[in-house]
Amino acid sequence: MAKGGVGKTTTAVNLAHDLALQGHRVLLVDCDTQGQVARFLGVTPPYGLYEFITGRDAQGNTVSKREAVHPARDNLWILDGGIKLVELKYWLGEQPRENRHALLRKALVPKGDALDYLIFDCAPGWDLLSVNILMAVDEVLCPVALQGPAIEGLKTFFQYLISAQKLNNPLGLKYILPTLFDRRTRQSYDLYKKLKRLFTKQICHPIRLNVRLSEAPSAGQTIFEFDPRATGAQDYRKLTRRLIDDGIRAQQVPRFF
Ligand SMILES: Nc1ncnc2c1ncn2[C@@H]1O[C@H](COP(=O)(O)OP(=O)(O)OP(=O)(O)O)[C@@H](O)[C@H]1O
Ligand SMILES: [Mg+2]
Repeated sequence: MAKGGVGKTTTAVNLAHDLALQGHRVLLVDCDTQGQVARFLGVTPPYGLYEFITGRDAQGNTVSKREAVHPARDNLWILDGGIKLVELKYWLGEQPRENRHALLRKALVPKGDALDYLIFDCAPGWDLLSVNILMAVDEVLCPVALQGPAIEGLKTFFQYLISAQKLNNPLGLKYILPTLFDRRTRQSYDLYKKLKRLFTKQICHPIRLNVRLSEAPSAGQTIFEFDPRATGAQDYRKLTRRLIDDGIRAQQVPRFF
């Protein structure tokens, strides 16, 4: 839900894959109409989040949750996003007012410990789908680009977060991840320092600007496949470590595998 182009999808995909590589079972949900997650991973799932929530495909045929979830790597499954999410937003809007905010949460109802991590890659902006996501999660990781008006974007995001907290109390801002850290610029250092001061608890080790990170998606690979020795891989591994060390485990773990 943070501003566009700050490394949300790059973070979601590489973090999800690294957690999977470390033996955790991960479901990555693409909540963006751009449908970048599948492209970044080089897969073309027949179904996705639309079918998962509505239980039907575009022709009206029944699709089970199990069919909607697509295996992308060992230990890593995805719920594809893409243009069908436009329809999903209309569909959500037509549902009864009293529960239309919590349909995603309901669809992901806890059913055991089939998954360790549930990661949502969000689109910039605020709509019925983003509200549903914030209702379905307990923790938020917010990537912040160490370039341009980073802090401005954060302010808008906090307003969203506060509104969502009124609906979902346990929701917390757990991590601030500085991205696009350019060691050659003063601006990157200044912004990083500022974020460290503002978010002493949440601040994560920054992800450096790394061309290999931007090249990997065209190969349909994560950085751990494309170039595991790149600085991008080292930085994302630090983030994975932090999450694992913090012992976050997805609380709501559906069993549709
Ligand atoms: N650390 C990095 N170094 C170099 N390039 C990066 C880095 N992180 C992301 N990029 C590149 O920046 C662009 C935007 O990244 P990404 O798609 O992850 O952002 P996003 O926040 O998901 O954007 P959107 O809001 O459009 O969904 C991509 O081309 C990506 O490859
Ligand atoms: Mg994205």
